[in-house]
Amino acid sequence: MELSRKGIILAGGYGTRLAPLTNSVSKQLMPVYDKPMIYYPLSTLMLFGIKEIMIITTKKDLNSFKNLLSDGSQFGVNIEYQIQEKPDGIAQAFLIARKFIGNSPVVLILGDNIFYGSNLVKSLKEADANKDFATIFAYRVKDPERYGVVDFDQSLKILSIEEKPKEPKTFYAVTGIYFYNNTVLEKVLSCKPSPRGELEISSINEEFLKEKKLKLKILGRGTAWLDTGTFDSLHEAGSFIRTIEQRQGFKVGCPEEIAWRKGWITNKKLENLSKKLMKSGYGEYLINLLKDKSKISSL
Ligand code: TTP
Repeated sequence: MELSRKGIILAGGYGTRLAPLTNSVSKQLMPVYDKPMIYYPLSTLMLFGIKEIMIITTKKDLNSFKNLLSDGSQFGVNIEYQIQEKPDGIAQAFLIARKFIGNSPVVLILGDNIFYGSNLVKSLKEADANKDFATIFAYRVKDPERYGVVDFDQSLKILSIEEKPKEPKTFYAVTGIYFYNNTVLEKVLSCKPSPRGELEISSINEEFLKEKKLKLKILGRGTAWLDTGTFDSLHEAGSFIRTIEQRQGFKVGCPEEIAWRKGWITNKKLENLSKKLMKSGYGEYLINLLKDKSKISSL
């Protein structure tokens, strides 16, 4: 039987660009309008069916994440936790999670990345189904020099990936969701820290590229990939989510709703979850889902 993909949410780091907000609270617990930031990457994983999830965070923040999400059963998923002692690079997540990953393929999402859009889930499901390959997602940004930048040809064959290039070859940034087959574990073991002392995710992508095993998908202009790392981008992300939610009456990144629509939790469970959240309106939203007669799943 094919092993199902494990999910990792990397939610450590110092969040220095958000100080003093992040002096005592993790960036990934900051509010993005009506919910903690980590709800969004968690929802992204859940939307394409990931149920085994590891959250990697700092020693200082571990208990806050546990208080918020516990073992995940309230959302019909299984959540485990690990500590990253120091933010020594995104690729270090695979070393920290190697037991959890075992022989499975894996997807890593950064805890401060928000994805939204109508074709997103289809695209993520395709990447998930491709268990032998690695897949990265690129998104057009106006300031590519701040990111890993991917160059590619007409058939989406990757020509190069450059980390924060001074003269970017394209406008396409590599986003913070990475699908890998199990060989990522060997690759990270032979990965050397970069001049800035980090195990770089670009080095892992480079290895898959050398093996001709790295696929590229583009998130089109109808999709949003939002940054939340600075005061302005955090504020803008909150405004964006608020605008969509106010207009549609649907919440973005609501793990309770996703779990319920997927049949991972019962009507009764959803009702119980809603009770503690009544005063904020979040609970009312959950309870109203049960009353909504619409057959369109709206995920
Ligand atoms: P960054 O935004 O690069 O770093 P940061 O969150 O510490 O913020 P700042 O630059 O303001 O100091 O990290 C991107 C995401 O990856 C973020 O969710 C934190 C996470 N991360 C880790 O958890 N561990 C790491 O070693 C690295 C490099 C990042």
